[in-house]
Amino acid sequence: MENTTISEFKKNWGTELASAFHVFNEYTLRLEESYNHLQNRVKEIDKEMAYTNACLKDKVQELDSLTKYSNNLLSSIHSGVIAVNLKGEISTINKAAEKILGLDSSYVMGKKIETIFKNSDGSAPLLLLALEKRKNCIDVERKIETIRGVLKWIESSVSLIRDAHENTIGAVEVFRDLSEIRELEMRLRNADKLAAIGAMAACIAHEIRNPLNGIEGFSALLARDFEDSDPRKKLVKNIIQGTKNLNKTVTELLVFARPLKLKSKDNSISEILDRTLFFVAEDIRQKGIHNIRIQKEYNLDNDIVRCDPEKLQQAFLNLCLNAIQSMTCGGDLTVFTRVLGGDYRNEDIQVGIKDTGVGIKKELVNKIFDPFFTTKQEGTGLGLAIVNKVIEAHNGKIFVESVEGSGTTFTINLPKNNIYDIDSFDDRYSLNEALIPQFLS
Ligand SMILES: Nc1ncnc2c1ncn2[C@@H]1O[C@H](COP(=O)(O)OP(=O)(O)OP(=O)(O)O)[C@@H](O)[C@H]1O
Ligand SMILES: [Mg+2]
Repeated sequence: MENTTISEFKKNWGTELASAFHVFNEYTLRLEESYNHLQNRVKEIDKEMAYTNACLKDKVQELDSLTKYSNNLLSSIHSGVIAVNLKGEISTINKAAEKILGLDSSYVMGKKIETIFKNSDGSAPLLLLALEKRKNCIDVERKIETIRGVLKWIESSVSLIRDAHENTIGAVEVFRDLSEIRELEMRLRNADKLAAIGAMAACIAHEIRNPLNGIEGFSALLARDFEDSDPRKKLVKNIIQGTKNLNKTVTELLVFARPLKLKSKDNSISEILDRTLFFVAEDIRQKGIHNIRIQKEYNLDNDIVRCDPEKLQQAFLNLCLNAIQSMTCGGDLTVFTRVLGGDYRNEDIQVGIKDTGVGIKKELVNKIFDPFFTTKQEGTGLGLAIVNKVIEAHNGKIFVESVEGSGTTFTINLPKNNIYDIDSFDDRYSLNEALIPQFLS
């Protein structure tokens, strides 16, 4: 009985082992199949990923070149472009905008628009108005004040920026600088005005000069007949001084009205300034002024400029006299020269005349170059108009900076190599001969 069971068991065991092996083999096969399938899938996924990566790389490159393209586009257009988000913070600014507003993009990104420039009449920036009213605006011309306090005329259009769902997410302003055009228009108007003044001045001056010379001559004869102690001598001297002043005004008027022709040659600007300061020092000495110091700060290695030395000297002299007249309680008159950097060509130079006088009221600064504008009882108001004319004739520019109560600085930018018309100069009313002896009298 026992033997039968063992042999049966052995027989069964053999069968079960065989079927177990069979199952095992089957599973191994399936596993192998699955493994192969998995490997194939991995390969497919690898391929898909490589393709997706290539697509992604293409897209990144496309995006990169699109960004570069729009940046180039922004930086190559001459109009200023500024974009802000809903909070009015700057998100984009192009090169032209930086140049017009005198800014640096690294400084302005993320800053509120109203901290960068404001409308000179104090109204809210156009970008903020457009955002507030959710409305575009086109060709709005206005005067703005930059962060550096420079006034500019600009013309702007503002458009709202929307996302894919048409929600407003910011606004963009495109603007151009009209300051030069407006300045030219103003100059043209002034030129017309000046031409009319010139014609009138020439007529009046000739009518006035002859009798004036007579009055001065006869007064001088009369003065000779009176003793020094005679009080009438003082009255006659007043008449002579009055005619001299009148003569000076007429001469200035003529100088101002005449077309300016320059006699130019290469001159040392320091020497012209030295000669000017000699006259200034003499004027101060004659007037018994002791509390004005004259300082020279010449910073040019090569100070040779092609210019008309007499006319420049007269311009510098007018500026220095104004400076002296503004320092009634004494102070410093500083005359400086330096090479111009920045936007200007390297060979151009700058001359500055700086005082620590009473300064000019902000609302009057724009008027001081107008002919006949004066705040002085004895002034003709032609001094700066003549300066302006002389500097313009040299293709230069004059700027003024003044702080009321602290002082004024006039700076003159002069190109070094000008080409002028050197013939047909009429010396009859040469600035030097006509004006310098009179101011010293
Ligand atoms: N350095 C200065 N400091 C303060 N005010 C100045 C200065 N220079 C010019 N001004 C102002 O500008 C005005 C015009 O100057 P401008 O030289 O043209 O005429 P003026 O000095 O009044 O008369 P003049 O014809 O005798 O020179 C002056 O009256 C004065 O108010
Ligand atoms: Mg003056």
